[in-house]
Amino acid sequence: MKEAEIGLIGLGTMGAALALNIADNGFDIAVWNRTTARTREFHAGAGELAPRIIPTESLKELVESIKQPRAIILMVPAGDAVDEQIAALRPLLGPQDLIIDAGNANFRDTNRRASEAAGPFLGIGVSGGETGARYGPSIMGGGDKEHWDRVYPVLSAISAKYEGAPCATWMGEAGAGHFVKAVHNGIEYADMQMIAEIYGIMRDGMGMTASAIGEVFDRWNNGVLQSYLIEISGKVAGTVDAATGKPLLDVIVDAAGQKGTGRWTVIEAQHLGTPVPAIDAAVTARNLSSRREERATGQALFGAGSGALAQGTLDMANLENALIAGKIMCYAQGFSMIAAASDQFGWALPLPEIAKVWREGCIIRSAMLNDMASALEDEPTRNLLFAPSFAEQVKAAQEDLRLTVIESARAGLAAPALSSSLAWFDTMRRARGTANMIQGQRDFFGLHGFARLDTGATGQHGPWAE
Ligand code: 6PG
Repeated sequence: MKEAEIGLIGLGTMGAALALNIADNGFDIAVWNRTTARTREFHAGAGELAPRIIPTESLKELVESIKQPRAIILMVPAGDAVDEQIAALRPLLGPQDLIIDAGNANFRDTNRRASEAAGPFLGIGVSGGETGARYGPSIMGGGDKEHWDRVYPVLSAISAKYEGAPCATWMGEAGAGHFVKAVHNGIEYADMQMIAEIYGIMRDGMGMTASAIGEVFDRWNNGVLQSYLIEISGKVAGTVDAATGKPLLDVIVDAAGQKGTGRWTVIEAQHLGTPVPAIDAAVTARNLSSRREERATGQALFGAGSGALAQGTLDMANLENALIAGKIMCYAQGFSMIAAASDQFGWALPLPEIAKVWREGCIIRSAMLNDMASALEDEPTRNLLFAPSFAEQVKAAQEDLRLTVIESARAGLAAPALSSSLAWFDTMRRARGTANMIQGQRDFFGLHGFARLDTGATGQHGPWAE
């Protein structure tokens, strides 16, 4: 009987695409799904790849179809389903057999699973949506390096390539891969939100049609902003609804879904003490977007603001630069969070390699990431904002970000991710901030003590108790 190189459990959208990718790269793969009908349907639809796919109808059959030591990818929904699947699978495996959780797990779950595991275990973040999974995702690995090395030939073969280099990188022990994937998703949320804010300014502030906005995004995709998210935003804006003949964007409900990865990133950032305000604003904006009735009540009560920008206040170059500055700031926040986690969790997260693994295949792939990789290679611990090439770009673009935030606020158009990034920037470039007032207040009501600027003495108190 033919033995597969690798196994895969879970033939949902991502699992099916990943299985076809593996087969397409010349590896025999055994697959199993909770419902046998789905396994059969998948195999029947695999076309010329079907001979490389071994459909199995029980976990035992799956395990017996894979060559030893085995490697089995789990592509099941994050959460309890992963624990249940591991519990069902592990007793059937030998001591060297490897389980790979390739879903969007919370890295704390992956840490726990790695420490509880009765055998080899990897947690890998896979980005790129269905198309990425099928034709080349970006893969962020976590777990023991020796186990990663064992499956690297398969993972690197199926991954996206940036100028020939595989976008599959080991990030560190235990949950390191899923942690990096969560930050990726946080940045994804912020990038999407900033694009949506700029879209809103064009739509409500400038009265532009969806197709005209789509053309602007298409144009920007040939410049500094070149990225997958700008590219698809252009396509989304340019699409016409077959049923109504209207721009499809105009008939899509303005309430964003989310599965939780952005929220995890924000929560972890707070634990780590490295704020990611652009990501925080993006998660908040998604939550508020769901409150449609409440927003309608707000509009009836307060009006929606003028909405329109005064003629000539903002042009497309202002908006493009605002997005460039906002994007750099958001990535700087994300990388600084990764650096903090690396220290705190005892990982040696490879910042330049993270920028590199995101250059192709993943949702946040963009031209800028190659420059970020170079900047981080120069000095991995420096805030990306201060890297000379990015500092220059921010110097050139920050006034346009400021103008965009000011004019959108004046017109009553919410731009939370752009404006919070601007506030972050203004905080990060002012040596003397205002927390002396906070310290004075804390000492006044709680004798918490403050440090003096002049003498450097700490634990000082004001005369307020008298
Ligand atoms: C990726 C994406 C993906 C994510 C979806 C939906 O990198 O391929 O991040 O993993 O799950 O895009 O995420 P939300 O439902 O939270 O928007």
